[in-house]
Amino acid sequence: MVKNLFIIDHPLIKRDLTYLRDKNTPSSMFRSILRRLTSLMVFEVTKDFEVSTREVETPLEVTQGYILKNEIVFVPILRAGLGMVDAFLEFIPEAKVGHIGLYRDEETLKPVDYYFKFPKNLDKSIIVILDPMLATGGSICTAISYLKERGAKKIKVVSLIAAPEGIDRLIKEHPDVQIYIAVLDRQLNQKGFILPGLGDAGDRIFGTEN
Ligand code: PRP
Repeated sequence: MVKNLFIIDHPLIKRDLTYLRDKNTPSSMFRSILRRLTSLMVFEVTKDFEVSTREVETPLEVTQGYILKNEIVFVPILRAGLGMVDAFLEFIPEAKVGHIGLYRDEETLKPVDYYFKFPKNLDKSIIVILDPMLATGGSICTAISYLKERGAKKIKVVSLIAAPEGIDRLIKEHPDVQIYIAVLDRQLNQKGFILPGLGDAGDRIFGTEN
């Protein structure tokens, strides 16, 4: 396996991905399954988070407890990344959330940015970028460059489905970033859609497909 690429392989993830791929899965179900599948990935993504010790008093005695050492910032890429935020916040409710608004121009396939809002201290935080789809990698690479320009040092990317083309680009442009995905699909088609994929995640989450 390529260093810094983690494919999270689990029977429940495989089953949930099948529901998401199914074109007959309605938006309401797509949203809840996306959230559940993201929850299944949280354990692996957060495995290397460091902890500090603190005392805790049980009903019987004082013992050693733990808190997360670093501030955590989740950064969903709008729109589809929004479908993954709640799953992460459920486990780390004290985390902050930054937003990056990007959409892919349908002709050029290049990302167009329209919104950025971040908490302070990006340099001292662990940043977790959320976007279910990693196709050409353009959106995620743009998001990473933007965050690095503002001081971010420790960045993880969590995506469900990736195309080999996007993974290659991401590893080349940002070899320091850890990438977590649920599956590596076959290829991109001429319109930049992942095959077999699941279609347009944003449209399927929000019911905006034509
Ligand atoms: C999709 C998807 C990613 C991006 C992936 O967003 O959610 O953000 O495309 O493609 P890339 O790796 O080639 O950049 P889209 O442009 O459809 O916007 P939306 O989430 O608002 O629907």
